[in-house]
Amino acid sequence: MPWLFRIPEIFDALAPEILERLHAQPGKRLGLDYHWVNLRDPSLLPNSPIGTFVRWNLPVEHSWPCNPSKIEGFIEKASQGLLAKFADRSPQAIFTGVLHPTSPDRYFRSLAGNLRGRLLQVFPATEVHDVEEQKAERETLFCLVGKEGLYAGMQSPRRSNGLFAGGSKFMDQNSPDTISRAGAKIAEALHYLRMHQPPLPAGSHWLELGACPGGMTSELLVRKQRVTAIDKAPLDPRLAGRPGLRFVHADVAEFQPEQGCLYDALLNDMNGPPDESMDHVKRLAKWLKPGGLVVFTLKLPKVESVDAPCTLMDRIVKKAQGAKLTLFARTHLTYNRHEFTLFFRRV
Ligand SMILES: C[S@@+](CC[C@H](N)C(=O)[O-])C[C@H]1O[C@@H](n2cnc3c(N)ncnc32)[C@H](O)[C@@H]1O
Repeated sequence: MPWLFRIPEIFDALAPEILERLHAQPGKRLGLDYHWVNLRDPSLLPNSPIGTFVRWNLPVEHSWPCNPSKIEGFIEKASQGLLAKFADRSPQAIFTGVLHPTSPDRYFRSLAGNLRGRLLQVFPATEVHDVEEQKAERETLFCLVGKEGLYAGMQSPRRSNGLFAGGSKFMDQNSPDTISRAGAKIAEALHYLRMHQPPLPAGSHWLELGACPGGMTSELLVRKQRVTAIDKAPLDPRLAGRPGLRFVHADVAEFQPEQGCLYDALLNDMNGPPDESMDHVKRLAKWLKPGGLVVFTLKLPKVESVDAPCTLMDRIVKKAQGAKLTLFARTHLTYNRHEFTLFFRRV
């Protein structure tokens, strides 16, 4: 069965090795970072650490290779084709996206939007309209368009590894309140988490390791979370006095939580060796509530082959088990560079 794999541009040099190790026979490249592949064993994707390099995936059940801008009535023809193919499978939702998400050419973005609009008219009413209201395990119709044509399939967001077509939630990073690029990482991580658990209620208490200058802290505070933020560097002055924030200007190694304090979640974005970061997390996980969440940015040293990051990830996940932290998801987020985001739960 043909499949679309989205391998982030940052791992482009590794793509042939990633595909080979996932037994995916490479075909044409589409858009910015999509690979059309023939897949022998789809179960390898979620079960192998190498699958973490594939940000998003879709079985291609319907394709129309063409240049949409040259086809008169493209939207109507595409909608009727998709209706004939998928209507009887009752998708929970329909989402469209573009094969080249960062292209300055707005044509395909508006084509994708208009296609979705028409699909919602011609399909029997879908249950879900808001992307974050989707059920993680129910099938959605995802469609991607670009100068290479239309590619569509039905799969659950959890199996595709993302709620949007293509898996990216785009964040405005040009607002005067943006403190650092890292803010977009936690914002996207919280969006991604919707596939695994409901959002943490207002007032939830986060322990944040390596918080400065404070991009993530700011995003958590905006969501009415309480944050104890630790860093040996100073926090951006714009965050001074923000309700819900306690800043501890110290090395994480010296930090001792107050007696009786239990956190709902722990966030690590420290730079430095990942093993050291996990040692800090393990020590502090004793102050996490049972069922508490850990969001761990795994900084990858120079990525020259798929094995070194996978071995590192395995070692970090095993270490975490020693503190009763069980991995339940891992991914490469749009705003991650050479890093993965790992999600653990305290059992
Ligand atoms: C990538 S930056 C964090 C960015 C931050 N998450 C944000 O949203 O702006 C890494 C931070 O980890 C801090 N850090 C690394 N090791 C630390 C340690 N042992 N104790 C305290 N802070 C540490 C650094 O000072 C640095 O500010």
